[in-house]
Amino acid sequence: MKIIVTDNYEQASLEAFKVMKGVVVKKPNAVLGLATGSTPLGLYKNMIEDHKENGTSYKDVVSFNLDEYVGLPRDHKESYYTFMHTNLFSGLDILEENVHLPYGNTKEDCDAYEKAMEDYSVDVQLLGIGGNGHIGFNEPGTPFTETTHIVELQERTRVDNARFFDNDINQVPTHAITMGIATIMKAKKVLLIATGENKADAVYAMIKGEPTVDCPASALQNHPDVVVVLDKAAASKL
Ligand code: GLP
Repeated sequence: MKIIVTDNYEQASLEAFKVMKGVVVKKPNAVLGLATGSTPLGLYKNMIEDHKENGTSYKDVVSFNLDEYVGLPRDHKESYYTFMHTNLFSGLDILEENVHLPYGNTKEDCDAYEKAMEDYSVDVQLLGIGGNGHIGFNEPGTPFTETTHIVELQERTRVDNARFFDNDINQVPTHAITMGIATIMKAKKVLLIATGENKADAVYAMIKGEPTVDCPASALQNHPDVVVVLDKAAASKL
């Protein structure tokens, strides 16, 4: 794992942007694995600015998102479909037909997403990390062998995400569809961003702990090309 520790969120977003831009410039038809959450927002802002100012083009880029809530219509304001269109896709020249997000709640929906990914090889998979060490929505206990599947969200994850749902946990969906850890591990490169003190324990377990299902992100220790971008707070327990 290559670990980059920066002073703050803005710098972490900039370091992550350099990695992402490097991939897209080298390979204009790159396949990007994308993530939601508050963490990648700074990176996405940098990508949009760079596209507008320097003309970096995404017209041949293909994207696959990590996860989506079960039970929210795609046009719900907190669906990850809406999040991605609002915070990234609308600011780039990426083509709608090249954008993929998982959707649904059945095994068939999961298998269809895996099948859609089969024809591609993800060049860089962007990840955030949950306070409990989850990646995508792979909660602690998820076998590393899982592919796209339906998960029941843990209490901590729903509490963490309640801030997007009027701080009302009852509005937070109970289930999600997510790429599995085996799906994530197929990416050629992984770029994980973590900032803030509430990620410090998860970051420690990911990097210094034994690879164990108790910390899903620790699976990344077995991946040959991982860049972890942290701020000082998230790196404080290393
Ligand atoms: C969410 C998402 C993850 C994300 C993580 C951290 O629940 N499913 O993909 O990385 O939790 O979110 P945030 O960046 O808002 O802290």
